Amino acid sequence: MTGAVAFIVFEGGDGAGKSTQARALFRQMQRSGYPVILTREPGGTPLGESLRRLLKNRPGATPMGELFLFLAARAQLVQQVIQPALQKQTSVICDRFTASTVAYQGYGRGLDLLAIDQLNLLASSGLSPDLNILLDLPPQSIFDRKTGAQRDTFDAAPQDFHQRVREGYLAQVSQESSQDSSHWLVLDATRPRRALALEIWQKVRPLL
Ligand code: TYD
Repeated sequence: MTGAVAFIVFEGGDGAGKSTQARALFRQMQRSGYPVILTREPGGTPLGESLRRLLKNRPGATPMGELFLFLAARAQLVQQVIQPALQKQTSVICDRFTASTVAYQGYGRGLDLLAIDQLNLLASSGLSPDLNILLDLPPQSIFDRKTGAQRDTFDAAPQDFHQRVREGYLAQVSQESSQDSSHWLVLDATRPRRALALEIWQKVRPLL
């Protein structure tokens, strides 16, 4: 099937069900005959996956150190995976992208938001998603969804960190809603999985 290609990103707090929904959309697009790849951040390239392991298991990184590791993983992914796919008329679904850095390193860790915007632009080669799908979850539910053994460095952050991350996402959504064309779909992540998948597909199909 030929049509437009789309760059679709799933965003949200830890444990909001992004990965599940990203996979569901990926399968739906494949079934419908659209060329598509599924990737994730940090990760998706050999260097990116190494950085992911490093970031997940080393609680010692400073906020600034952490920021540059995420950006390095992004630069690799954009140049080696995302741009080549889009050029070959293949859509891309990505689990997290630039909005994660604004929410986590900007709002969560308190790093300078203007600097993050500029660094995001650089690391992503100016590429921005056609659609960001935010699976919004109240912070208490984030904590409830993962058991102790499943929690990594990031999940172990205090409740107010997750609260700031959530506010960071909602701030990005409201900044864009003041413009004519919003690139955000905000969904209540506590809704049933199938209902969410259906609404996501209804939003994505017209883009293809
Ligand atoms: P991931 O497994 O994607 O998250 P989840 O726990 O939701 O399944 O883990 C990635 C972690 O990295 C997550 O806690 C968010 C964080 N992160 C940032 O802090 N900044 C970024 O730019 C990105 C891409 C991720």
